[in-house]
This record gives sequence, C-alpha cells and structure tokens, in this order.
Amino acid sequence: MSTKPNLDAILSLCKRKGFVYQSSEIYGGLNGCWDYGPLGVELLRNIKDSWWKAMTYRTDIVGIDASILMHPRVWDASGHTSQFSDPMIDNKTSKARHRADTLIEEYITRLRTKNKTAEADALEARLAAVQSNEDYHAIIVENNIPDPVSGTTDWTEVRNFNLMFKTFVGPVEDASNAVYLRPETAQGIFVNFKNVMDSARMKPPFGIAQIGKSFRNEINTKNFLFRTREFEQMEMQFFVKPGAEVEWFEYWRLQRWEWFKSIGIKEDHLRRKPHEKLAHYAAAAEDIEYLFPFGWGEVEGIHSRTDFDLKQHQEFSGKKLEYVDTVTKDRYIPYVVETAVGATRTFLAVLCDAYDEEVVTAEDGTTETRVVLRLNPLLAPVTAAVFPLVNKDGMPEAAQAIYKNLQRSFRVDYDTSGAIGRRYRRQDEVGTPFCITIDGQTITDGTVTLRERDSMKQDRIPADALEAEIRRRLHS
Ligand code: GAP
Repeated sequence: MSTKPNLDAILSLCKRKGFVYQSSEIYGGLNGCWDYGPLGVELLRNIKDSWWKAMTYRTDIVGIDASILMHPRVWDASGHTSQFSDPMIDNKTSKARHRADTLIEEYITRLRTKNKTAEADALEARLAAVQSNEDYHAIIVENNIPDPVSGTTDWTEVRNFNLMFKTFVGPVEDASNAVYLRPETAQGIFVNFKNVMDSARMKPPFGIAQIGKSFRNEINTKNFLFRTREFEQMEMQFFVKPGAEVEWFEYWRLQRWEWFKSIGIKEDHLRRKPHEKLAHYAAAAEDIEYLFPFGWGEVEGIHSRTDFDLKQHQEFSGKKLEYVDTVTKDRYIPYVVETAVGATRTFLAVLCDAYDEEVVTAEDGTTETRVVLRLNPLLAPVTAAVFPLVNKDGMPEAAQAIYKNLQRSFRVDYDTSGAIGRRYRRQDEVGTPFCITIDGQTITDGTVTLRERDSMKQDRIPADALEAEIRRRLHS
C-alpha cells in the first residue's frame, strides 16, 4: 500500500539525504533561499538537461545565456519598474506583512474547509473582480479577515510592493548606478532577439531558449521551493509572423504538457488553467498546474504576448527590432509565444510526484516501511549503485572493476557498509533505479544481480552486459 507525501516528509528527506538545505543554515537561515546539496544538484541538472534537449535539440530553437544584471532601461521598457508589484498589507499588532490577495485566498480556503461554500464563492467572485488596492482593503476589512499571526484585524492600507531586488554597479551608490537582479530570464532573450537572429541566421518562426536564475523579493515565501526569492527559470520565446501566433500557441501548449509527462509526472496530477484575466499585452495565456501536497499550483505559463515586448524595446532603445525578409522585402515585428517554467518549482513537483512510502513484507514475514523515490530513471541523481556482498573473497576487487567501468557512462555510487537490504533501502530513498550486487557467484561465473528499484525484481546477468542492459532499460 502506498501513501502520498506531505511536504514535511519531502523536506525531511531533502535535508537528510542532501537534496536541499536551508540557505546559510548555520546562521539561522535566510528566508526564501535554498541550497542544493550533492544529490539535489544532480536532480536539478537532469531536469534542466531534459528541458534543454526538448527545447533546443531541434532546428528552429537556439539557446543563450544572458547576464543577470541588465541595463535598467530594460525594466522600464518591460513594465517591471512601474508594474511588477504585489499588493501588500501590514498587520499593526504583529507587524506581519502579507500579500493582500493571498490573505484573502487563504481565508476563502478556510471557509471552504468549514463548508461555507456560498460565502466562499461570493468572496472568490469579488476577488476576481478586484481593480485596485482599495478593493483588496475593503474585502479584508468588511469580512474581518484576521492576521494569521496575531489573530487581530487592525490592518494598514494596501500598498504596492515592487518585487525587484535593487543593487548598484560600481562603487557609488546613487540612483544613476542602480540596477536590478532580473526578475525573469525572458527580457535577456528579447534584448538579444536581433543579435541572435542575425548571428545564428534564424528567421521566424524560431525560438530562443534560456535557463537561469531569477530573483523576486516575494512578500511571503512559502511551501518550501514553491515560492522562493531566488529561483531558476527555463524560458523560451518563440518569434512568429503576426497572424501565426494562434497556431503556435496551440502547438506549445501541447508540447509543454507532453514534456511534463516525459519527465514522469503523472498526468492526473497535472491540469490546465487558462487565465481569466489577461495582461494588457497578452492575446492568450494558460498555466500548467501541478497537484502539490498543499494544493494545485502553477509550474509553467504559456503566453501569447503579441509584439508587446519587442515593440517596447524598440521604442525605449531606439533600435529597430524587425525581421526583414530579404527576398519578399516583407518586414514586421514578430509576435511572441512564450513558454516559462520554473526549474526549481518543477524540481519540487518531481520530488512530490516520485515520493512514495510502501509497506513491504520480508521473506520471514516481518514488515517494514520502504521510502522510495520513484523518479524517472533518466532524472535520478545516481543511475546505479554497486555493492560487494562482503568485503572479502575477491568481491571488493570485482565490484571496484565494475564500478569504474560503469562510471564512464553513468553516475554510479559504491557502498560497502551494512547489510545488503539496508544498502538497497538507502538507494531506494534517493531514487537510484538500479543496484548491482557482486557475490560469490560473480567470482566463479562473472554474473551479477541487477535489482530494479520500483519492482525490487532481481535478474542475474553477465557483468560485461551491464552497461548495455542499463542503457536499454533507461531508454525503454
Ligand atoms: N516571463 C514570464 C514569467 O516569468 P511567471 O509566471 O512569472 O512568468 C514563470 O514565471 C514560472 O517561473 C512560474 O510558472 C514558476 O514555475 C516560476 N516562478 C515564478 N516565481 C517563482 C518564485 N518566486 N519561486 C519559484 N519559482 C517561481
């Protein structure tokens, strides 16, 4: 029997096994920032590699890696300086700061758990119709929504809080030297549109992909890696001839869904959520949501962004950002279909989806709980683990030879400590798909046991067939 995880179980596994640690933990931690440990860095890299292959191993998309710090005018053009803010409200007693919309959403959730459906529906409709900070404030005050920290309802006004982190280039800290840590990777793509088109000889329809860190000074960070202040995004901007955006939006929304399936996310844990309210520049937008232990949450947005971004950058920079067809002399500012997915948020989704606890019965009838990460084998931080059954009788030497040979192709672990069952459990917990045991028979006939993580089934195969067999199973 299997049970689904809660977030605490995932958090505990992450720290215990070296997937993720709290940033600066020995100093008490830094809110909204996390460090990826030895296994976490491998899993995150494998997720990013999978995305990179899916998006750039094709003729119509190329990659870039733009800097995190950009000219401050970029953010004026994109609208981030004036509009990239969340509505913030402070409680006067506890001094706790909240996002006004989140505070209301959480209140609605509480109403629903108390079966106050009509009240919750009415409030949800009111929230969807909010136009201003005054509207948020009115909802909070009229419904006596309490501060989750102090329980009181003495609230400040609702104000806008810009989410960009500001810093300074060079030694002088004045307004003329102010720059921002990018809040999204997309703008690095837009400003390089012409460079890439000219140097890589691309013409619409074509895309530019990028993976990199983004920073948002989120008012409330929560749910572990879900909403953090430093995170990684994987974004792709696809530039098309005006008029072709509907077809390409449809294409990318299907492709991106398939990618989540390809990395092993269960389809019934995914859903599509078309945006009800579109940004002023958007023609269409849809999120892909994942069913996290704390509820549905966006993992990716697919947006049809018209020519808004290129037009803005053309106006603010004074540089033409058009495509000109050398044969037909046709010229236009391309429309953009964007796919924007969080690498670190996907990491959390992958872990939640893979985490399983099952009760297994040993041959002697005793039972124990096995924690197993049922990761897609291609994403697993370690592909195979090699165990000599005992540390004598030529087994360590044979095991070392196999380990070194497999290491040329895969990430492999080597473990000699404890009973073989314990060694299997350690690997199950971190999602290693294959375990290889070298025993007495190996010394006589050159065969080993190859154990598969999910079924725990063991096959006896020649040691020199291992590499090909693992490769075959990885890709089957
Ligand atoms: N260029 C469009 C853009 O950035 P977004 O919906 O703001 O769109 C895209 O972000 C994805 O980035 C989200 O679906 C989410 O996976 C990830 N993301 C955004 N903010 C995040 C945060 N504070 N922490 C972790 N991931 C985040």
